[in-house]
Amino acid sequence: MTAKILVVDDDPLVADSLAVFLRRRGYEVSVETDSRRALKHLKDAPDTDLLLTDVNMPGLDGFDLLKQARKVDENLVVVMLTGYGTIESAVKAMRQGAEDYVTKPILDEEMVLTVERALKRRRLTEENEALRRQLNRSLALENLIGSDHRIRKIYETLATVAQTRATVLITGESGTGKSMIARSIHHASPRRDKSFVEVNCGALPETLLESELFGHKRGAFTGADADRLGKFLRADGGTIFLDEISTASQGLQVKLLRILQERSFERVGGDEAVSVDVRVLLATNSNLRVDVEEGRFRADLFHRINVVSIDIPPLRTRPGDIPLLADHFLRRYCEENSKEVLEITDDAMVQLVDYEWPGNVRELENSIERAVVLCRSSELTLEDFPPEITNASELTGNGLQFRPDGRTVMPLKKALETPEKEIISATLASVNWNRQKAARLLDINRTTLFNKMRKYELLEIKRGGKRRPRPEGLKTED
Ligand SMILES: Nc1ncnc2c1ncn2[C@@H]1O[C@H](COP(=O)(O)OP(=O)(O)O)[C@@H](O)[C@H]1O
Ligand SMILES: [Mg+2]
Repeated sequence: MTAKILVVDDDPLVADSLAVFLRRRGYEVSVETDSRRALKHLKDAPDTDLLLTDVNMPGLDGFDLLKQARKVDENLVVVMLTGYGTIESAVKAMRQGAEDYVTKPILDEEMVLTVERALKRRRLTEENEALRRQLNRSLALENLIGSDHRIRKIYETLATVAQTRATVLITGESGTGKSMIARSIHHASPRRDKSFVEVNCGALPETLLESELFGHKRGAFTGADADRLGKFLRADGGTIFLDEISTASQGLQVKLLRILQERSFERVGGDEAVSVDVRVLLATNSNLRVDVEEGRFRADLFHRINVVSIDIPPLRTRPGDIPLLADHFLRRYCEENSKEVLEITDDAMVQLVDYEWPGNVRELENSIERAVVLCRSSELTLEDFPPEITNASELTGNGLQFRPDGRTVMPLKKALETPEKEIISATLASVNWNRQKAARLLDINRTTLFNKMRKYELLEIKRGGKRRPRPEGLKTED
């Protein structure tokens, strides 16, 4: 996109020649010779990238214009045109927040470089702002989606614990949101303006990981040709997040224990202890208690890090959160891909809720993103999701579905009928299949009872004699 520049100078000759000069270099240039009109121009064209303004002008001078213009757009980049040799006004310009200044006469390559530098700064600021806004948006506590009571409880814990410097151990299957929770804790804490440093303990071999975390002295080992600070020092004043902590070697576990107890450590090859003020968050998808019992993880370290623990339940155990998350990701990815907000059809949503989500929220997020990107109509239907998701609930013959985790599900209507049938047949059996007595006990009239017996095929059984029907239910052993 062509950068938009506004040139302001009360001398029309200067302003116009500057405009011609810049236009020839591909910029879109407007000219104002009156500073009040210039201000109005900025209000009308808020997409102006750069203001190039003279200092000495009647009415609003360049500095006043700078101040007013910043109120219109705080990221507007301003370059001042100062008269030859007036170094004071150059200094003043910079103090007041101008990006740069050029001294007249000005139609040279120096001018072009200054403009390019200023515009680059503007782009960077905008990118940073956008990133920060996005980050703030995704990390704000109210953006953590979930109505499941355990998730709500986690969010409460999170808000409280963020105010402290307590060590927090976050557990949960892959994709449940551990890293997101860790970032949110940092973001909600008084340390938010300091660094958040993330280290995946499983990603590096032991020796590298140690120097990555604790830094090293120059010459500590072959290849250590310079001092290295290490992540703990880089997180000073902030937060360090140690992901996949269960993979930490025994040696590293000892060092971590020390750092948690004494808040100090030694660099590899160094001899003096270095103190740090770091808040430590840890995550694992493994069961650390079992790792302790089986000797893979130090018990003392476990107790040290298990001060506050947050266990995020897998998505399949909180199906109520699935529609909320699905809609949340739907909105996000429609926005990101500039698509009209789509809808998820009821059929498709039923399948999403029904699916096991072994990859948890991450898998759901990826599926929605993919569906949004590929979708060519105004709604996401079954066809927009991969078969493993939509085949998940192909019902077995009797309407029951057996899951790998041993739970059985069935359609709601059938599930509600099952106890009714059981109650009726049990009541009938208790009065030796006397329908009049059974109807009285059940407090329904005999016609209703008869109809229900027919519906549940209980009439045949009675005629068949003693044989009581096996209550159709959830048990499948026999
Ligand atoms: N409750 C939630 N609300 C919104 N987004 C979530 C939620 N839980 C997880 N996510 C998103 O799911 C993805 C996976 O989460 P992540 O923290 O990387 O999981 P983990 O670290 O446990 O593997 C991320 O994009 C994250 O933003
Ligand atoms: Mg993670």
